[in-house]
Amino acid sequence: MKDLVRLKTSLKEEVEHILNEQVKLEALSSSRYLAMAAWCDRNGFDNSANFFYEQAEEERTHMLKFFKYIADMGGRAVSPEVTNIKLEFDSFREIFELALEHEVQVSQAIHRIVDACRKHQDYTTENFLQWFLTEQMEEEYIARRALELFDVIGEEGVGRFMIDQQVTKINYEKPA
Ligand code: FEO
Repeated sequence: MKDLVRLKTSLKEEVEHILNEQVKLEALSSSRYLAMAAWCDRNGFDNSANFFYEQAEEERTHMLKFFKYIADMGGRAVSPEVTNIKLEFDSFREIFELALEHEVQVSQAIHRIVDACRKHQDYTTENFLQWFLTEQMEEEYIARRALELFDVIGEEGVGRFMIDQQVTKINYEKPA
């Protein structure tokens, strides 16, 4: 029976496994951003809360893209379990530091999937991943710019209020 299931997909076992790991990581991203949104909401940073609510939604879309891809390829898509979400943060700045750190981690994870695709000559999945490589470039850019606001504006006085104002205005201009 196991072999029959395997015959239905051209995904190699290692690629399928690592894609399911990515499903988990994207689900984790969504939950982490949701926790950050809630913290910002509780602490009066309304724009940042909206920023993270949107990020959480986007990450869920990423998760579904991976999930659907595995299923569409005849693979076994595994519904992810997400646990140990950090709910409290020491500061407004810490949230943005963690967000950038997380996006870098996601980019590295996608690079590792590309490596696995090349190893198994899985050009279809490698092609599927192109969209994510571009997306990560954009996400890392936004997270980096957001964190830079803390140094550019400073946190003294109305600083944090100003940072919160600017966060949703960050725009990534795609290279022509
Ligand atoms: Fe889908 Fe921002 O990683």
